[in-house]
Amino acid sequence: MIIAVDGPAAAGKGTLAKRLATHFDFALLDTGRLYRAVGHLVVDAGGNPAKKDDALRAAQLLNPGQIKSDDLYTEIVADAASQVAAIPAVRQVLLDFQRDFARTPPGGKAGAVLDGRDIGTVVCPNANIKLFITARPEIRAKRRHKELQEKGLESKYPAVLAEIEARDERDRTREVSPLKAGDAWKIDTSDKTPDTVFEMVRTYIEDRSS
Ligand code: CDP
Repeated sequence: MIIAVDGPAAAGKGTLAKRLATHFDFALLDTGRLYRAVGHLVVDAGGNPAKKDDALRAAQLLNPGQIKSDDLYTEIVADAASQVAAIPAVRQVLLDFQRDFARTPPGGKAGAVLDGRDIGTVVCPNANIKLFITARPEIRAKRRHKELQEKGLESKYPAVLAEIEARDERDRTREVSPLKAGDAWKIDTSDKTPDTVFEMVRTYIEDRSS
């Protein structure tokens, strides 16, 4: 069983994916971490995340420890992530890892939840459940701002909003694997609590699998 959760920045994908994985006892892969880790490696090495050679080298060097790093949530890394993510060769390197994870979830789990931008459209087009989680930009920026502050990171709301809007625009308009809903069930979480969203999706999945 594969559950694909896509959507723009800070829409609530991660929270929902985590709750679904816990509830169904499935493996969880936050694919944004892969792109963030590649972006982080490039920035750390003093490279240019928009340059194919720099980004590809970082993608090829990526190891599992770097994906778990706590340093992936700065706005600089988010911006670098979306730049490396627009490079087709980088996406290609990360594709096999994501598909293997979905096909053979670690820990012998019966299913996998993957969240990202192109899971339902490119990585796992045959996913059993496809969700597209969205919310108004101001709401998403407010949530991300709060999240960053709670992590003890410096954050200014206008800068967060601008960064999210610029990144969404880049993710939507890139040529390879652009962010789009495709045939997924689209849920706007702007005026819903995480509990409400989770319950809606849980019922939807249970209805479809019984
Ligand atoms: O946490 P947030 O929603 O802000 O972003 P993320 O999911 O960690 O993804 C960071 C960046 O990686 C995105 O802006 C995309 O450019 C890229 N990404 C992608 O292209 N494809 C994915 N499947 C996941 C992330």
